[in-house]
Amino acid sequence: MKLLITGGAGFMGSNFIHYILNKYPEYEIVNLDKLTYAGNLDNLEDIQVGNRYTFIKGDITNPQDVEKAVKGVDVIINYAAETHVDRSIMEARDFASTDVIGTLTLLQAVQKFKVPKYIQISTDEVFGSIEEGEFSETSPFMPNSPYSASKAGGDHMCRAFNKTYGTPVIITHSCNFYGPYQYPEKIIPLFVTNLIQDKKVPLYGEGRNIREWIYTEDHCRAIDIILHRGEIGKVYNIGTGKQISNLELTKIILDELNKDNSYIKKVKDRAGHDFRYALSFEPLKSLGWVPEIDFKDGIKKTISWYQSNEAWWKKLVEKKEHTDYIQKQYQER
Ligand SMILES: NC(=O)c1ccc[n+]([C@@H]2O[C@H](COP(=O)([O-])OP(=O)(O)OC[C@H]3O[C@@H](n4cnc5c(N)ncnc54)[C@H](O)[C@@H]3O)[C@@H](O)[C@H]2O)c1
Repeated sequence: MKLLITGGAGFMGSNFIHYILNKYPEYEIVNLDKLTYAGNLDNLEDIQVGNRYTFIKGDITNPQDVEKAVKGVDVIINYAAETHVDRSIMEARDFASTDVIGTLTLLQAVQKFKVPKYIQISTDEVFGSIEEGEFSETSPFMPNSPYSASKAGGDHMCRAFNKTYGTPVIITHSCNFYGPYQYPEKIIPLFVTNLIQDKKVPLYGEGRNIREWIYTEDHCRAIDIILHRGEIGKVYNIGTGKQISNLELTKIILDELNKDNSYIKKVKDRAGHDFRYALSFEPLKSLGWVPEIDFKDGIKKTISWYQSNEAWWKKLVEKKEHTDYIQKQYQER
């Protein structure tokens, strides 16, 4: 099988490329990535370029770039996106472009080149915030940030192409990912790398917002099952059924790194901050998938990866673009 992975130089895309090349010795992968600030070829430096893996630098909003990558592939898995909510609040244009027009461009290529399957990697954030209970696959979209609105736009385009043209689309909505290779602007790698450097961690508001977390390997297994056994036209939520507040999460990380609460710096809350996300995932369970990695174990593995890979993240956190961004983003209360 030949897979086109878009955004494969990012966090989850690169984890999935490792997973597939290790698990399926006969599979081939084409990775199409624009290499934005979040795309990093260091994530794939251990992978041999050759018959089984090809990298193409290109933009999913550009039909010519997509056409170069798509010929002969059996499936497209679209990981490419602008993904950071806080950056979408500062400037939303790239989000609308990549997450909506990029998705449209890929869907048009699926039609033109008769690609047999397209999998959209999306988020629970399209459903908005839920005080109690869980979002199901049929919950209405009520996005609250420019990021989630852009992802919702791309997901609607996928649904519309399937209904209108019969395009062979599967949509996935996942809870928050964590694990190796996550860019150190997202809460877990930001907090872990700050604490390793003996710096404080910037916690929004009182830390009461609640999130559901999935370890990279569990997400890769879910996409693997959907790739091989998922039904065209269906939507699959990918969750764990376990939620924790950002304050609880922070305390777990502090404990693991032997730091106390004095390392928490409370900062001005995110605008439009969703209070709680929670997912039910019955259709995925019926394909035989359940999460295997408990948060306490996953966070230990994640911390240990960042401790062992300082050279990987130091390069990123020392860039002027990154330090300027962090300084602008977190205003002390
Ligand atoms: N991180 C999470 O917690 C989470 C949760 C649910 C869903 N998702 C979704 O999963 C996917 C992957 O997320 P991630 O956290 O790994 O992202 P990431 O930000 O780490 O990586 C995104 C990748 O996409 C590439 N990219 C961006 N714009 C592009 C364009 N126009 N053309 C080609 N490549 C482009 C970047 O260079 C980068 O390599 C995204 O679609 C995201 O919306 C993420």
